[in-house]
Amino acid sequence: MDKRFIIANWKSNKNQKEVQEWFETFATYTSLFQKEQLKIIICPPYPLLPACLSFITRYRLPIELGSQAVSPFSEGSYTGAVSAKLIREFAKYTIVGHSERRELFHETDEDVHSQVTQALANGLTPIVCTRGEDILPQDAKIIAYEPVAAIGTGKPASLEEVEKEANSIKEKNSVSWILYGGSVTGENAREYLTLPNISGFLVGSASLDPHEFAQIIQHA
Ligand code: PGA
Repeated sequence: MDKRFIIANWKSNKNQKEVQEWFETFATYTSLFQKEQLKIIICPPYPLLPACLSFITRYRLPIELGSQAVSPFSEGSYTGAVSAKLIREFAKYTIVGHSERRELFHETDEDVHSQVTQALANGLTPIVCTRGEDILPQDAKIIAYEPVAAIGTGKPASLEEVEKEANSIKEKNSVSWILYGGSVTGENAREYLTLPNISGFLVGSASLDPHEFAQIIQHA
């Protein structure tokens, strides 16, 4: 079987105590993680990366870390930005171009391209999000199709829509894996994985609850 990616995007949620509780609970599901092709990636807010790393080590979890964004610049005088070089000390992946970054923080296709360049130059694998209409960087290997109407609304996209978009992304890009994101839950995850071009999920709300996130992993 090809690789499966189940990625938690915690967005701007959780503090240190809540992270500890999440890992204590999640660690009780270790039997679910023993699948060779399965990649479980947690993307917490930046300041929680070190704590996540120490819990992964403490519980010996086969989980990797990602950031939710990355600076489009290298290190230097860019107040508030976090460089790919620094992120790489904690994480192997970074989400790039999430629709919330594009809409609320005004990131453009150009910013997304610069972020992918920075990520790749520093050994981070970018997970590039697309709403469908976005221009994707040609060097992106993991693309997450995330229609805005499905994000955080409890109204996931139909299987037909996801299949159609995944096929069109595959046709236009030399991408290796396409993920779906938008109101994925423990209940609906299984059906998307029957689509030949879908290799996993970017999960927001449902990843905040370790029980529900584990339920999604169970289907992978
Ligand atoms: P959601 O978020 O699962 O809460 O819809 C998905 C995402 O924004 O990545």
